[in-house]
Amino acid sequence: MCIFAKTQRLLIMIRLNDLSFEESISANAITEAIEQVAAKINADYAGKTPVFVVVLNGAFRFASALISKFEGDCRVEFVKMSSYDGTESTGEVMTHIALDFDLEDQEIIFVEDIVDSGNTLEKLINMIAGGGIANYRVATLFFKPEAYTKEYKIHYPGLTIPNDFIVGYGLDYNGLGRNLNAIYKLKKTD
Ligand code: IMP
Ligand code: MG
Repeated sequence: MCIFAKTQRLLIMIRLNDLSFEESISANAITEAIEQVAAKINADYAGKTPVFVVVLNGAFRFASALISKFEGDCRVEFVKMSSYDGTESTGEVMTHIALDFDLEDQEIIFVEDIVDSGNTLEKLINMIAGGGIANYRVATLFFKPEAYTKEYKIHYPGLTIPNDFIVGYGLDYNGLGRNLNAIYKLKKTD
């Protein structure tokens, strides 16, 4: 990690494999966004027992922080999906671990790290179709509206961000960067 001043702003840069990234969202801003999402979910699900369906790998940190703030009873389940290769979406969403619990009458909250094109979300919604759920909602730490191609409502967007490739707080570049506590965006080559 290197730190230097550019136009009077401290710029924190990191390098992962062949690419450079600069800090764009602080750890504090992430914590605040999660607190706001948690407050809304606590209000909406008071007295209910939702099932948080965590989308691995990227959402593990957001899910852990969010679910630890849930005040009622809840269940937690996991699916594992992937669609990115390097810094680009392949457009194809692969399911590595599928849903394996009884959906009947369940109130589901999908927990995503980021909603980008919305292809993953569409696949998740198709997965629960026909399972007899009571309802579903979507919580995502980050939302890129400029990249979103679907119409599904995003009920709990943590932070709305520009269409940049980012790493940190669970999000990765070829597997690296998930441990970073702030968010770093890909540095464009001049
Ligand atoms: P979507 O299917 O295009 O909406 O993308 C969803 C998945 O792609 C997310 O759950 C992430 O795993 C991955 N993804 C999308 N944008 C980024 C990014 O900027 N950095 C890292 N992973 C991303
Ligand atoms: Mg993901």
